[in-house]
Amino acid sequence: MATNDFAIRGIPRRHSFELLEGYIMCSVIASLDDLGVLDILEEKGLRVEDVGGNLQLARDTVFYLVDRGVVAPDGDVYRLTGYGRELLRDRGYIFWIAGGFGEPFWRFGELVSGKSKYGKDISRDGRIVAVSSADLGLEDLKPYVHSLLSEIEFTRVADFGCGNARNLIGICGLKDADGLGVDISADAIAEARREVAKDGLTERITVVEADASNAAAIPGLETVDLVVGFFFMHEVLEQGLDYFVSYLRGLAERLPAGAHVLAAEVLPPQRDRACPETFTPEFTLIHALMGQGLLSEEGWSDAFRQGGFEIRKTVRPNIPGGLLLLAQKTD
Ligand SMILES: C[S@@+](CC[C@H](N)C(=O)[O-])C[C@H]1O[C@@H](n2cnc3c(N)ncnc32)[C@H](O)[C@@H]1O
Repeated sequence: MATNDFAIRGIPRRHSFELLEGYIMCSVIASLDDLGVLDILEEKGLRVEDVGGNLQLARDTVFYLVDRGVVAPDGDVYRLTGYGRELLRDRGYIFWIAGGFGEPFWRFGELVSGKSKYGKDISRDGRIVAVSSADLGLEDLKPYVHSLLSEIEFTRVADFGCGNARNLIGICGLKDADGLGVDISADAIAEARREVAKDGLTERITVVEADASNAAAIPGLETVDLVVGFFFMHEVLEQGLDYFVSYLRGLAERLPAGAHVLAAEVLPPQRDRACPETFTPEFTLIHALMGQGLLSEEGWSDAFRQGGFEIRKTVRPNIPGGLLLLAQKTD
């Protein structure tokens, strides 16, 4: 890894340069992901002309990736190094933050000063958030979700904040269940419809653009025996803990007896200075930027209990600070 150059040349490490490297690398990786270039790189290696029509910048981009040890030349093709493969394994996280939240962060000053308002003047990119969230969960969430769901029975699944519906498609496939995807973002719903059609599942899975924080507005919940909400419940919590609990009560009233809810969240950092945390401070700040707070495991469990559910299981997936909570409607 090129950062070791500091040590090799006897120059003391300067953390600010590591941050600059991270900033540029994340921006480049997110852009190449959006262009589909990372798929080509993973599948068959990269030629300069695969990167883009601006051949001079495309060449310099490849040289940059070589300089930083992400790819190495192999004849006239550039292939991922071990370090590059490791980075791309986590490309969903990079695309989510540097792509989905690119604008809110370069305009962070406007938000923190109060000059601009999140959601009115400045927003995340709904399409990128939908696509990157699914990638992010592929290896770090999906196996844990599938293992948890293999222990329960369900025939009809609703996915609140379904994003591009890749999670919903996978879950329905586990038990040959029908699906209902709900998302408030028109861009996410467009991606979801594409994915459902691509897999030939339009007869089994419906996706609707709606506000899932209003249980009354979601059609057909009476026949849904599993609700999943991955990185969605904090969107409802944004309206306050009392609102969230009454939302869960409304949900419990409409769901059939024995219905399950499976939520995935990221917990806030424990703020233990002796033990710096990975990812949770950034995740927490991103949600603070949107006016959203997060709860601890106890906080989520208490809210679900007050909302008329029993906690059946909590599991820590392979996401730093990640939590999966399986709840079931009490009688
Ligand atoms: C972080 S993404 C997660 C997407 C997906 N669940 C996944 O894990 O891949 C959160 C999703 O919730 C959607 N969302 C936010 N507020 C919502 C609301 N009130 N009703 C429905 N969807 C909402 C967003 O548009 C976004 O697609």
